Amino acid sequence: MATLQAIKYNDGQLEILDQLLLPESCIFIPICNVEDAWAAIREMKVRGAPAIAIVGCLSLAVELRKLAAPETKEELCRFVKEKLDYLVTSRPTAVNTQLAAEACVKLCARLTDNTSVDTTAAKEDIIKHLEAMLADDIADNLAIGEHGARDITKKNATKDKLRILTHCNTGSLATAGYGTALGVIRSLHKANKLDQVYCTETRPYNQGSRLTAFELVYEKIPATLVCDSMAAAAMKQFKIDAVIVGADRVAANGDTANKIGTYQLAVLAKSHDVLFYVAAPFSSIDFQIPNGQSIPIEERPHSEMTHTGSTRTAAAGINCWNPGFDVTPAELITGGIITEKGVFKPDQLAPHQSN
Ligand code: MRU
Repeated sequence: MATLQAIKYNDGQLEILDQLLLPESCIFIPICNVEDAWAAIREMKVRGAPAIAIVGCLSLAVELRKLAAPETKEELCRFVKEKLDYLVTSRPTAVNTQLAAEACVKLCARLTDNTSVDTTAAKEDIIKHLEAMLADDIADNLAIGEHGARDITKKNATKDKLRILTHCNTGSLATAGYGTALGVIRSLHKANKLDQVYCTETRPYNQGSRLTAFELVYEKIPATLVCDSMAAAAMKQFKIDAVIVGADRVAANGDTANKIGTYQLAVLAKSHDVLFYVAAPFSSIDFQIPNGQSIPIEERPHSEMTHTGSTRTAAAGINCWNPGFDVTPAELITGGIITEKGVFKPDQLAPHQSN
């Protein structure tokens, strides 16, 4: 069965699966411009670091395809930069949109300097560059899946089948397809090496129970849902072999921001002697930030903690703290960082940045 597809793009038409309606209904909504994409990202109709960047960039491609070529390349590039600057403000922690924007602005500068390229050709080049992100992300995820599955299998060579714990949603719904951490799990399953995946509920937004559980059931991957508070007991009881999570931003030293609750899993993994892996493409690695301390952490609405749907479940008047992400120190990433270029120790990422 083909994996789920949450982003559909054909001939300048962009549609996304509205993730607010999952798992009850699968409804695609059109994204007609950058403003639509910004709103869909902010409202969490699409989420997950790679998917946010891809939908943002494709929405710009949609707009550019409809735009009559501006008079000059400078005017075209100003337009592109303004739209990208706006998209970067949609959510603060994931770095993918910022890195994609920087790459596109660099392309704009090269096209402006190149006197043999006219404005129409420059516009086409920018559109092609933005549209390529969809296929590139799937290729990266397939490679992450292979590298990760090979590394985990090798490090557990005495075991026939493995038990993996994962957090949040890192699958087809969070990427262009296949997924990062969930991609590694898919690859283990394809290789007949997966006994069971345990997915956390991922409170308070429930990306695990709503989205990851949905993907795992959809693809008939053997899976068990656990509440976040059961992680230590599950590691002990089920003899988990590895924890694999995704990333919203990996700093140059390997410190990794990911969904709130990731850090506690890394601490638990260490005390249970369980390998802890981060699976992320280089498009999630921010070499401009030396360590995790300067990663901006999104604060989410308190209603995510105090309410279930429209029903209040927490005592009225209680103070709340609801960070969307936390930072796992590099030294707790004992298995390594699984990228499309291979599996690296957190402090060994830099030499692989641009090859
Ligand atoms: O708030 P979300 O749902 O966008 O958070 C998603 C995560 O934290 C994922 O683990 C991360 O973006 C990696 S997705 C491949």
